[in-house]
Amino acid sequence: MNRRRRIYEGKAKILYEGPEPGTLIQHFKDDATAFNNEKHEVVDGKGVLNNRISEYIFNNLNNMGIPTHFIRRLNMREQLIRQVEIIPIEVVVRNVAAGSLCKRLGLEEGTQLPRSIIEFYYKNDELGDPLVSEEHITAFGWAAPPELDDIMALAIRINDFLSGLFMSVGIRLVDFKIELGRQIEGDMMRIVLADEISPDSCRLWDTTTNDKMDKDRFRQNMGGMVEAYQEVARRLGILIDND
Ligand code: C5P
Repeated sequence: MNRRRRIYEGKAKILYEGPEPGTLIQHFKDDATAFNNEKHEVVDGKGVLNNRISEYIFNNLNNMGIPTHFIRRLNMREQLIRQVEIIPIEVVVRNVAAGSLCKRLGLEEGTQLPRSIIEFYYKNDELGDPLVSEEHITAFGWAAPPELDDIMALAIRINDFLSGLFMSVGIRLVDFKIELGRQIEGDMMRIVLADEISPDSCRLWDTTTNDKMDKDRFRQNMGGMVEAYQEVARRLGILIDND
């Protein structure tokens, strides 16, 4: 693994050069970070769980015709992905009020939103990923207007699919974050889902107890983070074997 060229190291993942041109290897670390890296811990087993949960979700999305960067899982911590040009925007979809939305608008956590809300954040660690509008995105050229239309359509389809998937196993999808990239094939360009979808990037509450089954357990020092992620995997029917 170490002989592979490292392309990028983020807070929770490393990207290595892939076996073929146009591919990368996405490696899931055990590192948990919050509040723009102010809180950092190594949580044993988290990377393995996120690799498996994200694989499960991306495979389902691929099968539904939602384009993603995911090709296949390689081992416990790594997956083969298509290299894409990352759009510097984090897209958050919210169904229930929580997190920064509550802080910003003074809403009570758990308030059902009148409809799903899409928000955009500019990916910039130094600025703390500020909230931006569609106007900022198109004016500064981070994405073109038709790309933004595709991004919003993808975000809505992903929300519909994920809400149903989690609801069927007794989990409420409160909100989640996605990242998108441009996949260039010859003279064709399309927007694809990139990065990961896991309990690190979603808020997931048990539908009967409202127990948090996501990274808020780490952010709010609640403990039991790995156990909660394991429970999400178990309910989705994901078997964690040691391959
Ligand atoms: O903190 P906030 O309420 O804005 O987060 C909304 C959703 O986006 C949460 O599910 C959170 O886990 C996710 N998120 C993320 N990465 C970030 C910011 C938020 O995965 N950098």
